[in-house]
Amino acid sequence: MSQTLSIIRPDDWHIHFRDGDVLAEVAPATARHFGRAIVMPNLSPPVSKVEMALAYRQRIMAHTQGYNFEPLMTLYLTDDTSVADVDAAAASGFIKAFKLYPANATTNSAHGVTDLDALAPVFERMAELGLLLLVHGEVTHDEVDIFDREKAFIDQHMQALTQRYTQLKIVFEHITTADAAQFVLAASDNVGATITPQHLMYNRNHLLVGGVRPHNFCLPILKRQSHQQALQEVVKSGHQRFFLGTDSAPHLRHLKENSCGCAGCYSAPAAIELYAHIFDEIGAIDKLQGFASQHGAAFYGLPENDSRITLVREAWKMPASIALGEHSIVPFFAEQTLNWKVQD
Ligand code: DOR
Ligand code: ZN
Repeated sequence: MSQTLSIIRPDDWHIHFRDGDVLAEVAPATARHFGRAIVMPNLSPPVSKVEMALAYRQRIMAHTQGYNFEPLMTLYLTDDTSVADVDAAAASGFIKAFKLYPANATTNSAHGVTDLDALAPVFERMAELGLLLLVHGEVTHDEVDIFDREKAFIDQHMQALTQRYTQLKIVFEHITTADAAQFVLAASDNVGATITPQHLMYNRNHLLVGGVRPHNFCLPILKRQSHQQALQEVVKSGHQRFFLGTDSAPHLRHLKENSCGCAGCYSAPAAIELYAHIFDEIGAIDKLQGFASQHGAAFYGLPENDSRITLVREAWKMPASIALGEHSIVPFFAEQTLNWKVQD
């Protein structure tokens, strides 16, 4: 049994950094081990213009100095996004993608898109200029069961999007179902997917059995075990269009342990270690480097990082909480034992 594992420095293709005091804590947590991260734009107000992304990027970089780290930015698609916005994003050089939140799908998504057809010229321009479309794939209609919302999105929108914009690179973000995995497998090489640590490690029993566990609540919600197993199978296969995106999404403890708790798991403090832990458990540690450090870069058309990190087989315990001024954040997998640690 191998005790150390050296891999090309990984990238996180889906991260929530927030802003202000929280940013100071969470940006270094990612920059420590990752070479690049795709930064989600769901601040309030949303990051929907190039100038906003530039300012946000500078705030991030102020907290990641000294690390070998580059934040890659995204713009928030709204019903008002124009072709000129796409041109400006492409010209910026640091914006790689637009994020599609169906209106009201999740945290700070009230400005999301209500009519996909109306954005056709925007999607066509993105394809022409090589910007990616990142999709939160859940419908939001009240009548659709929360556990069926990803499948319904595939049937109602994803099929049509991928068939209509064949030249557009689309990432189906944080997939949670066998349906989504199969959809991506059957799609063209322009369709990829990210998978979070929590959806590989957990299923909905981990959210609800023995009491409600608010720190395991995220969107899309954890699904039944057969879906978890399907995601494990697809990463085990080493398929190139599936890659690392933590969806690490910090919320203060009191806002998660609340009668209406926020969605999001804060996995950044041990992101690559969480993936190493679960890949090892399912017998796929040999597929970690591809998933974490190669497939995503290839999909985005970027070079692999030119440095490496080393993981060692060493048991350690995730802290119970992380102090943040007078508040705190409970990390994902708090107080549980991880079997791999990055050698700093
Ligand atoms: O659980 C989630 N939290 N899912 C999302 O899509 C958004 C994220 C957040 O920003 O908190
Ligand atoms: Zn997210």
